Amino acid sequence: MNQFYPKILLSYLLLALFSCNQSVAETDFVFNGFKQSDVSIFGNVTIESRILTLSNDSTFSIGRALYPSKIVTKEANSSKVLPFSTSFIFAMAPYRDRLPGHGIVFLFVPHTGIDGTTSAQNLGFLNFTNNGNPDNHVFGVEFDVFKNQEFNDINENHVGIDVNSLASEFAHEAGYWPDEKIKYNSDGSLNEESLETLKLNNGRNYQVWIDYVDFNISVTMAPVGMKRPKQPLLDFHLNLSQVFEEEMYVGFTAATGELAQSHKILAWSFSNSNFSIGDGLITQGLPSFELPEDPVYRSKGFIAGMTVSLLFLVVVIAVASWFLIKRNRRMKKEREDMEDWELEYWPHRITYQEIDAATKGFADENVIGIGGNGKVYKGVLAGGSEVAVKRISHQNSEGARQFLAEISSLGRLKQRNLVSLRGWCKKDRGSMFVVYDYMENGSLDKRLFESNDRNMLSFEDRIRILKDVASGVLYLHEGWEAKVLHRDIKASNVLLDRDMNARLGDFGLARMHDHSQVASTTRVVGTVGYLAPEFAKTGRASTQTDVFGYGVLIMEVMCGRRPIEEEGKPPLVDWLWELMSRGELINAFDSRLRTNQDFNEEEALRVLQLGMICASLDAKARPSMRQVVKFFDRNNDIDEYETEDMDAYLLESLRSNTMLSNFSLSLSHGSHPTFDEIREGG
Ligand SMILES: *[C@@H]1O[C@H](CO)[C@@H](O)[C@H](O)[C@H]1NC(C)=O
Ligand SMILES: *[C@@H]1O[C@H](CO)[C@@H](O)[C@H](O)[C@H]1NC(C)=O
Ligand SMILES: *[C@@H]1O[C@H](CO)[C@@H](O)[C@H](O)[C@H]1NC(C)=O
Ligand SMILES: *[C@@H]1O[C@H](CO)[C@@H](O)[C@H](O)[C@H]1NC(C)=O
Ligand SMILES: *[C@@H]1O[C@H](CO)[C@@H](O)[C@H](O)[C@H]1NC(C)=O
Ligand SMILES: *[C@@H]1O[C@H](CO)[C@@H](O)[C@H](O)[C@H]1NC(C)=O
Ligand SMILES: *[C@@H]1O[C@H](CO)[C@@H](O)[C@H](O)[C@H]1NC(C)=O
Repeated sequence: MNQFYPKILLSYLLLALFSCNQSVAETDFVFNGFKQSDVSIFGNVTIESRILTLSNDSTFSIGRALYPSKIVTKEANSSKVLPFSTSFIFAMAPYRDRLPGHGIVFLFVPHTGIDGTTSAQNLGFLNFTNNGNPDNHVFGVEFDVFKNQEFNDINENHVGIDVNSLASEFAHEAGYWPDEKIKYNSDGSLNEESLETLKLNNGRNYQVWIDYVDFNISVTMAPVGMKRPKQPLLDFHLNLSQVFEEEMYVGFTAATGELAQSHKILAWSFSNSNFSIGDGLITQGLPSFELPEDPVYRSKGFIAGMTVSLLFLVVVIAVASWFLIKRNRRMKKEREDMEDWELEYWPHRITYQEIDAATKGFADENVIGIGGNGKVYKGVLAGGSEVAVKRISHQNSEGARQFLAEISSLGRLKQRNLVSLRGWCKKDRGSMFVVYDYMENGSLDKRLFESNDRNMLSFEDRIRILKDVASGVLYLHEGWEAKVLHRDIKASNVLLDRDMNARLGDFGLARMHDHSQVASTTRVVGTVGYLAPEFAKTGRASTQTDVFGYGVLIMEVMCGRRPIEEEGKPPLVDWLWELMSRGELINAFDSRLRTNQDFNEEEALRVLQLGMICASLDAKARPSMRQVVKFFDRNNDIDEYETEDMDAYLLESLRSNTMLSNFSLSLSHGSHPTFDEIREGG
């Protein structure tokens, strides 16, 4: 009996020990609101109305709240970190008239307390000395609303994964990818434009899910109440074996600096085995911490201001009505003579008398150009500003159509690389005038082909001009409520201002389309030599046909050659492909460029190659204007488009014949059917 008893006790103890081991290894909890006993708190933390508040508006303050006991984070006798899944709801409540800062960190730490941490940008997570030290054994997911250079923060509204350091291993702008609107790039990566950005500290409640399993860490966030998005915001491989100790504390920390906001945790769940533990959080009926709209109407200044302005308004209305009645009577007759569209663009109207005076009665010495449908005059308006006045002949309906196209598109478009419309005038039913800002340096084709060596365009000027035109066309294609097709991009329609900035002009052929709408078949218009083959064939303009024209413009600018010269010479496009196939493209450049100090052959070659890709015969092979603009932007710092790459691409297309079927034809037949076709089409 005496011998028997300890045996039972022993096996009982072993059993207890074993089962105890099992229950210790796993942690599971769900807090929908907090009681004092739910967490251990350090620094300036308060729990009120079941909300865990890690900071209020007091400056340079730290608050930390941890699950009261250490939790097991590794498998017994192994370095393998246990999987975990946690979810919480947080809010960062801003204060009125107060700059907000600094952020919340969900963290694992080996000890309690806030020793070794400082406030402000250190988030109560680490301090200046121990930041980056592998002996810290801390892991955190930061929700940071301040951009710190020292930690390489990406912006002032980001989520980051921190290992022993405030310089995040991985970070992303705060937000989520909506399941139904998520988009991918062609390489399979996420399309950043489909990210729904969330402003961390606008006082809204956000739910966060953090999962760690099989060495993968994922962080997902969404506005509270929304179903968990399938695509995490951050999703990376991360080995925490060296970071975690066998047992760790888990919780939250937050800090204010000179900047302050109230950091709040409303609910929190955690589990090592249940990856749906986040579903246990109650997301309904939570308090809101968003600032109410400014109650301006309460201020004394507002009331006083209102009284005065109301009185003023009454007087103004009385006077204005009297004038309007008088004016209306006078204008009624004039208006009856007008069409609907004219009223729409009423604000741009300039009187004939003004234009007549500006151009000294359309004096011949003021003529600065002759276009297809009339002369262009230089003029000086009464205010002293210089303008160019295009007088459109009224003989044919074509003139009227162009006039309409110009004022209806340019009248509403505003961009620094587009010529700006000053106004318009229609005298009787016949003569029509369009008034633009005057461009000191005239048109690009004059500078390219008619200038002497002294005022020849430098290499730098040419690149800038191409860049300017590209951003102007990009604006037309994508920057406005409707898609605008210019349909006549060419050197004579590019104008240069005093500082040699380029602006695209002449919208006489421009058409507007809804962004979704495909242009319907119309007549072939435009300028021979700049027309995309498919356009010449079908008469259907598209953004790609503009890109083709732009490609030809690049060639023209870089080679100092017109797209189509005298009979017998091959069109510029074909000539370049021929040089290209012989590997002699560098002989194509405008010879005057070589005398230029800033001439950079490599860059010139890349730009010319871009022109050739833009002028691919296959419309699908052409880049978008956005890609073209990007090309020029990158050219300045990162060299993404290596010359070899573009070479390879062009040679490949030459070989594969997809871009070049017509060119090959033209080579084998010794003629140029493509452009002959175009000539006929045009
Ligand atoms: C803000 O927190 C500090 C420190 O905990 C406390 O002394 C102060 O009373 C709090 N202020 C408000 C308005 O609650
Ligand atoms: C708590 O807040 C007070 C100001 O209210 C501040 O002086 C003190 O440093 C704060 N304590 C911590 C640990 O941040
Ligand atoms: C862990 O190792 C200790 C001795 O180092 C051993 O007594 C114990 O049984 C081991 N536990 C498990 C679960 O393997
Ligand atoms: C940072 O914390 C460590 C303890 O981890 C301490 O020794 C050090 O003095 C602190 N440094 C600063 C700048 O507060
Ligand atoms: C972990 O990531 C790898 C590659 O990133 C992936 O193949 C694997 O499915 C992920 N595992 C889990 C559990 O998500
Ligand atoms: C993780 O790190 C530990 C310790 O450095 C190592 O033994 C283990 O192989 C690593 N696991 C993976 C999947 O990288
Ligand atoms: C996992 O957690 C959720 C939310 O608390 C709960 O509804 C579910 O029953 C849990 N599943 C298991 C297997 O415990």
